[in-house]
Amino acid sequence: MKNNLIKIVGFGHYVPEKVMTNDDFAKFLETSDEWIYTRTGIKKRHISGEESTIDLAYQAAINTIKNSNYDVNKIDLIIVATITSKLRTPSVANLVQARLGINEKHVMTFDINAACSGFVYALEVASSLLLSGNYKSALVIGSEQMSSIVDWNDRSTCILFGDGAGAVILEKSNDETDKVYFYNGSKGDDKGILWIDPKVKMDGKEVYKFAVDIMPKAIQKVLEMSPYKLEDIDLIVPHQANIRIIQSVAKDMNLSMDKFLVNIDEYGNTSSASIPILLSEYKSKHKDKKRALFIGFGGGFTWGAAIMNI
Ligand code: COA
Repeated sequence: MKNNLIKIVGFGHYVPEKVMTNDDFAKFLETSDEWIYTRTGIKKRHISGEESTIDLAYQAAINTIKNSNYDVNKIDLIIVATITSKLRTPSVANLVQARLGINEKHVMTFDINAACSGFVYALEVASSLLLSGNYKSALVIGSEQMSSIVDWNDRSTCILFGDGAGAVILEKSNDETDKVYFYNGSKGDDKGILWIDPKVKMDGKEVYKFAVDIMPKAIQKVLEMSPYKLEDIDLIVPHQANIRIIQSVAKDMNLSMDKFLVNIDEYGNTSSASIPILLSEYKSKHKDKKRALFIGFGGGFTWGAAIMNI
């Protein structure tokens, strides 16, 4: 990407109020808090009930706009990463436009399906469109109602996921330190290792192997595309699928876990929402600029790595 200067000017997230603990699962499945926590690092997750992927996306958008005191009328591009919309059309992004009251503006809206890597994919697409000069302000959202697509009888998958949404607003930057780099990719899963058809079906062990292999490789690759070394990165923001996967990446790359943002204990795996929720929580407490590396992986198979300032 030439002249690749992009800044994030707003962060926000939204999770439904209702919380489901590991003990809640033990009421209807043969499982335990001890099994779930030691195998995954998850203690609880938020579950939406009535609120759809669109509701979650809209609330995250509103919180992002409020947090950054942003003029909604400036937004001319909305991209939502999601795999859980009940509607094939309109897209979630299209309905967010309507709810934000900017239907009369010139806005391009669409959704991206790249499973848990979707948010990082969306960041690259949004950045490219901003750099093309055709758009000036991109609202990028990851929103998932995973509770609507899990098989509640399958104890090896339903305990992993949670609902929520996170968002950022991107603009072109003039600051030479705001260079962005992306390494997004995929490897076709024609064996059904992680499919949603119509509910989540997964070979957990195979997914685990894929994740611990691809994450360090993708981190290395995006670093090679940039002028930076691992030690130049302040924070790693990994997709939250399993704490053991993150610990394995840290060990593999000889990094302290302090370098990784983690909130899986509280939210579980919220798919494309996990990275923007982490970002929003972090930025609500830390205002100084940091160089971050985002790293996601997911069904497809897909992976996404990005270096951006936050
Ligand atoms: N509670 C209790 N026992 C459970 C259980 C649960 N919730 N889920 C599975 N088990 C049982 C299994 O039935 C199996 O029993 P068996 O030995 O009698 O057959 C045993 O626990 C071990 O299962 P296994 O699948 O080997 O566990 P694991 O250590 O591989 O952990 C996952 C399972 C799903 C936690 C792990 O494989 C994982 O996290 N994979 C990656 C998944 C992922 O990240 N997906 C999203 C990608 S974006």
